[in-house]
Amino acid sequence: MPFTPDDQLELTISHELIPQQVRKELHESFHIRPPFVLPILLSDLLLPTPCTHRSVSSPPPTTTAGTSPAPHTYYTVVLIDRATDRIVGVGTLFLERKFVGALGVVGHVEDVAVGKDMQGKRLGICIVRALSGISERLGAYKTVGNCNDVNIPLYEKCGAVRKGNEMAKYVNDRARL
Ligand SMILES: CC(C)(COP(=O)(O)OP(=O)(O)OC[C@H]1O[C@@H](n2cnc3c(N)ncnc32)[C@H](O)[C@@H]1OP(=O)(O)O)[C@@H](O)C(=O)NCCC(=O)NCCS
Repeated sequence: MPFTPDDQLELTISHELIPQQVRKELHESFHIRPPFVLPILLSDLLLPTPCTHRSVSSPPPTTTAGTSPAPHTYYTVVLIDRATDRIVGVGTLFLERKFVGALGVVGHVEDVAVGKDMQGKRLGICIVRALSGISERLGAYKTVGNCNDVNIPLYEKCGAVRKGNEMAKYVNDRARL
């Protein structure tokens, strides 16, 4: 399928939020932009095993272009393989408005995934840098992301340092997988 330019798509957020520097560093075979549907299920498409932690009691929200259940909170970017117009990477930033710390904003990098056949091409770095850049542009005083040990170098290469530990309480054992 031929590559579809951004101006032919109804994107969920402005493509101008993505830092120019990130675009410059991306190999010309790829393009980075916001998605034209809400990000729900996008990371599931790329991951080998489906996410098990989605609430089982509520159906996934509708993925209608241009609408969001929480406006000005979720910012997703996708990486497109220009040759196929296929999504090969995805990541989401969400903004947390703190009630302490002078009502500051913290950006959270979540659900970063690159298709198995496209891993190792520095696309993960591109996604994390894009999300950090958007976070800074939108006024966050810091950007954080939880990851397993194997992915620590990915974040370090994007300028992050290890800080604290993540604690989690799961509702059932299946969600822990
Ligand atoms: C994590 C993930 C997004 C990385 O994407 P990627 O495009 O392959 O990563 P990059 O090519 O940008 O690699 C960036 C750096 O991360 C590290 N890295 C990436 N994959 C790694 C692996 N499998 N083992 C060890 N280090 C790895 C390397 O330091 C690499 O830098 P280098 O190329 O200079 O050595 C991808 O492996 C993925 O989708 N994994 C499954 C989903 C997942 O675990 N998501 C959580 C992300 S926190």
